Amino acid sequence: MVCGPSLMAEKEQGFRKMLEKSIVENIRIEHPVVLKGQYETAYSLLQDALDTGITPCLVGPPGVGKSLLARKVAEDTARSFHEVFFDENVTPSRLIGSFDPALVVRSGRNISSFEPGPLIRAMVEGGLFVAHELNRATEFCQNSLIAPLEERHYHLFPLGMVKAQESFAFVATQNPIETAGTYRLSRVLVDRIGCWIRLTYPTKETELLILKENTPAFSLPVSALDKIYEIVKATRENPVLEIPASPRSGIYLTRLVNKYLDRFETEDAAIKFFAPAVLAKEMKVRGEEGKTVSKVVDEIIKKVLG
Ligand SMILES: Nc1ncnc2c1ncn2[C@@H]1O[C@H](COP(=O)(O)OP(=O)(O)OP(=O)(O)O)[C@@H](O)[C@H]1O
Ligand SMILES: [Mg+2]
Repeated sequence: MVCGPSLMAEKEQGFRKMLEKSIVENIRIEHPVVLKGQYETAYSLLQDALDTGITPCLVGPPGVGKSLLARKVAEDTARSFHEVFFDENVTPSRLIGSFDPALVVRSGRNISSFEPGPLIRAMVEGGLFVAHELNRATEFCQNSLIAPLEERHYHLFPLGMVKAQESFAFVATQNPIETAGTYRLSRVLVDRIGCWIRLTYPTKETELLILKENTPAFSLPVSALDKIYEIVKATRENPVLEIPASPRSGIYLTRLVNKYLDRFETEDAAIKFFAPAVLAKEMKVRGEEGKTVSKVVDEIIKKVLG
């Protein structure tokens, strides 16, 4: 379909209106957070570290709840929430902010021509800054975090020294070193992180609650949820799967089975249908010649469902 110029302009205007409506102050957590087992300890440590001005780092495999705990502490303490997902392309100016060249030409480098990045925003607002995958940040980025962490200020040339509000807090998250990306944390940064909070796959009791709480209109029988959990757990015990199923994958599978159970004659049929799609991720298998992820996942499903 070819759109005329006026139709295009109308569409664009419509989009801008929708964009305006979609901009919210802060994203809220929409489901109860399970604070049992490891999460109770982790959350308590997280609060204690922040209350004492110590920088915590949440360490754990993908999908175990690191971001959720960071977000929860921001919500519970009424702090604004700012985050950056580090990789080799994130530059210090992405964190700190930069001067808008057009405005600089007009009025020079001053407060009005400065577009703050998330770290400066969090410092000025007294919010929470979450550095996801901190160990994947370049050395350049890691160095620009030292002053905000240690001295709670940043020298923003040529504006001057930006001092963080009292409630400014910094939380790092990362995957365990074995599964992390290419970069490592510099020694100076490691030394400034004063509280290492480790998360792993939760116990059965805790994970079942997580699966339920994250599934809208949850109505599955206990037996179905149990089978889903057993399949998910079996992927974690299988050494050939490079990325086992996280609670996040378990949630996806539970949601699908929960919503579409009616389409199938039995709960096993529903699980058998959805589990391979969720769990046979696009990844390599370790070691075993001729094995594919799909084969391994199929074997697990057969073993659990019989
Ligand atoms: N304790 C919990 N209570 C309720 N839901 C949880 C809990 N832990 C994890 N979840 C849910 O599991 C999913 C994954 O959690 P989250 O995104 O926080 O993991 P993550 O560790 O940050 O993962 P990644 O390393 O991939 O960023 C989310 O849907 C989250 O709501
Ligand atoms: Mg995360």
